[in-house]
Amino acid sequence: MEKVTMDKIVNVCKQYGFVFPGSEIYDGFANTWDFGPVGVELKNNVKKAWWKRFVQEDKDTYGVDAAILMNPRTWEASGHVQSFSDPKMDCRKCKQRFRADNLIEDFSKGKVAAEGMSNEEMEKYINENHIKCPKCGSFDWTEVKQFKLMFETSRGTVEGDKDIVYLRPETCQGEYVNFLNVQRTARAKIPFAIAQIGKSFRNEITPGNFLFRTIEFEQMELQKFCKDSESMDIYNEYKERAINFVIDMGLDKDKLRFHDHDKLAHYAKAACDIEYKFPIGWSELNGIHHRGTWDLTRHSEFSGKKLEYLDPETNEKFIPTVIEYSIGADRLTLALLCEAYAEETLEDDTTREVMRFIPALAPYKVNVLPLIKKNHGEKALEIYNMLSKHFMASYDETGNIGKRYRRGDVIGTPFAITIDDETLENDTVTVRDRDTMKQETIKVDEIVAYINEKITF
Ligand code: GAP
Repeated sequence: MEKVTMDKIVNVCKQYGFVFPGSEIYDGFANTWDFGPVGVELKNNVKKAWWKRFVQEDKDTYGVDAAILMNPRTWEASGHVQSFSDPKMDCRKCKQRFRADNLIEDFSKGKVAAEGMSNEEMEKYINENHIKCPKCGSFDWTEVKQFKLMFETSRGTVEGDKDIVYLRPETCQGEYVNFLNVQRTARAKIPFAIAQIGKSFRNEITPGNFLFRTIEFEQMELQKFCKDSESMDIYNEYKERAINFVIDMGLDKDKLRFHDHDKLAHYAKAACDIEYKFPIGWSELNGIHHRGTWDLTRHSEFSGKKLEYLDPETNEKFIPTVIEYSIGADRLTLALLCEAYAEETLEDDTTREVMRFIPALAPYKVNVLPLIKKNHGEKALEIYNMLSKHFMASYDETGNIGKRYRRGDVIGTPFAITIDDETLENDTVTVRDRDTMKQETIKVDEIVAYINEKITF
């Protein structure tokens, strides 16, 4: 099979209803994408699986759904207002904007870490090494300037009175500010976690690489509040849980690796990314961060409310340490698409495209196909109506049966059910497996249990 490129994935996604370019009829809007009928099911299943694993099945984790627009003081406390920015420079010739640190890292093939450099140091390195514009090849740069990543909007209660508010650039602040509310109402004892899934927004400069880096994306984040003495064990536990989760979702172990950070924030004891081998190369899939007491301390200072925990055994009050686990739903969906897609040559020398999602993630679980529409259509619709009460089912009556199988394969539907004369006579159907393409006969009243058993995550 040919190597899967990002362009291939973008085209397949567009062609089969996974993801469309944002605002396409207006020639698009850079770094935005719209999930189509198939993609929205896939991403919902990704989010459901994460929530099940990390919230539902963990008695010490509590979910929230906090507001996107938060009191602007939140972002002063978090440090985003002061320092959430990227160093950018423009090519004067083609007007394309780039991140100076990315230019250096790409040029040096990752050998020079630009993270710790000042703007002046980056400019000097770029000039001394005569780094050219990757788009047009010129060497005519503007100076390096910090570019704010938070989107601003305004809120005015009185005409002319406009206060700046920010679209949140990460969801975790909604978890920190609700620490006391959740701890009190859930009567939670540490270690416990607060989790949420929601949209975040960043005014990213770099071109996106499809869903990998967008200006609007969903994060699945949790913060585990604990004693400092147990924090490293919890950090290591989440590293394991995070990698096992994505392996269970279907990502290949050999395309996953830990990347421990050498450079740490002053308050952190450790930080690590899990990287996946995307078609663009090894890149961050998610992060696990030891955040010390930084976040709750800052919010205590800025809000004037003590975000402390009272240990019921020792009667000691303290600010808990936080371990954060954060993964982008869109980025993980992209990894799963890249992993699942295959072009195969079959035994009869025909080819097929297939998405080998694990059944729990598949957008549609079953494709219901009347063999001959006029003879079997009515019964097939009856079965479709019955199945769609339990899970996402699709109904396809046009074209020959082979073509209909292929349409289901390429959107990853794990089972295809054919309704034929046997169904009318014996109440049985044939079930075709997407991966093996083998068929078996089962009773109509067994279909739901048969599929349910296979789609459990
Ligand atoms: N609260 C911590 C935090 O936000 P991050 O490393 O900036 O940390 C966490 O983001 C995860 O969110 C990333 O590992 C990635 O999966 C996802 N993510 C971040 N920026 C993104 C973007 N512009 N587009 C898509 N996903 C993004």
